[in-house]
Amino acid sequence: MTQRVKVALVGCGNIAQSHWQGIQAEAPQIEVTAIVDTHTGRATAMAEQTGAKAYTSLEQALSTGDFDAVDIMLPHYLHEETAISAFAAGKHVVLEKPMAPTIDACDRILAAAKAAGTVFMIAEQSHYWPDALKVRELISSGAIGEIITARAYFGNAAGIDTGPKPWRYELAKSGGGICMDGGAHWIRPLRMWLGEVDEVVAVTGQPKKEMEGESYARSMLRFESGVVAVFDALNGGMFIGPGEEFRVTGTLGELVIEKGSGGNLIRYDEAHPQGEIIMSKRPGRGPASFGYELRDFSRAVLEGKTLAASPEYSLGELRTALAIYRSAESGQWEKVWV
Ligand SMILES: NC(=O)c1ccc[n+]([C@@H]2O[C@H](COP(=O)([O-])OP(=O)(O)OC[C@H]3O[C@@H](n4cnc5c(N)ncnc54)[C@H](O)[C@@H]3O)[C@@H](O)[C@H]2O)c1
Repeated sequence: MTQRVKVALVGCGNIAQSHWQGIQAEAPQIEVTAIVDTHTGRATAMAEQTGAKAYTSLEQALSTGDFDAVDIMLPHYLHEETAISAFAAGKHVVLEKPMAPTIDACDRILAAAKAAGTVFMIAEQSHYWPDALKVRELISSGAIGEIITARAYFGNAAGIDTGPKPWRYELAKSGGGICMDGGAHWIRPLRMWLGEVDEVVAVTGQPKKEMEGESYARSMLRFESGVVAVFDALNGGMFIGPGEEFRVTGTLGELVIEKGSGGNLIRYDEAHPQGEIIMSKRPGRGPASFGYELRDFSRAVLEGKTLAASPEYSLGELRTALAIYRSAESGQWEKVWV
């Protein structure tokens, strides 16, 4: 029988369902044997769903549970202590983005990972999006010529909140607003296509009053290549119209990924001035891409395969978000890798 890695899912909230569905669909080498959540009802429900054993603390799970790896899906302020406990117990760790809200905390986590010598991965599913990978391939092959500029737009209608204030609205628990949170999934593809971000200039705002961090950001990212891209993020307004998620413009053509359920990847060039649809409906988004990332993790654990992106590489999204925050304060261009 194929070897499998036993995993504990730590935190059974929103994203845990996507991880579980992704495992079932795309990561057959993962066997979920433990579930951890301080909320007893959530732990029990997910244990029933997965057939794993429920625990209400990681400490308890680490002392008696049967698993080699943990998949940490907790509020950001808990990432450091949880990851360090798991490394101290000799576990492999996959940790939802961002690694932690500050670079100092990330450095402590990286040191613990190094001391443990186990596999460490930051979960960033956009690195596995088929359309993002196709754009990377097309750019590398010169399909749109030399890159002139690009744009990424992460926009959601604000909606109406009911119930208690979520942790991600509290700066002390989240460390930031939408740039640090979901914005990572828009910054990563830009880095995959354009290289490393050198500096940023940005304004931020709070149209969603309940959020302590920014719910709006308009920023320019200058890459080491000299290319400047625009990154816009918004959680505000009651209605948001259609448009594009990404646009990359080169000297010979343009690549566009549309927002919304249509979600075409379209190439415009001399042979296709009206546009050629290369992919439709944003394939692999949703649970599948979580499955691809967790399959990558399982292969690193079981086969020693190199991860598609190292944890150090994942700091690029966090550092870009932190530089956006500094720039919004200073009104100046701010370096990302300081
Ligand atoms: N990749 C993505 O697209 C994506 C989307 C959403 C969230 N996330 C990330 O996933 C992580 C979790 O976010 P979420 O939206 O699922 O949060 P959530 O609030 O929905 O779930 C967190 C869960 O953790 C539990 N919990 C809290 N403290 C705990 C502790 N000490 N020990 C064990 N369980 C505890 C809570 O009871 C809750 O069930 C964050 O890092 C977030 O940025 C990623």
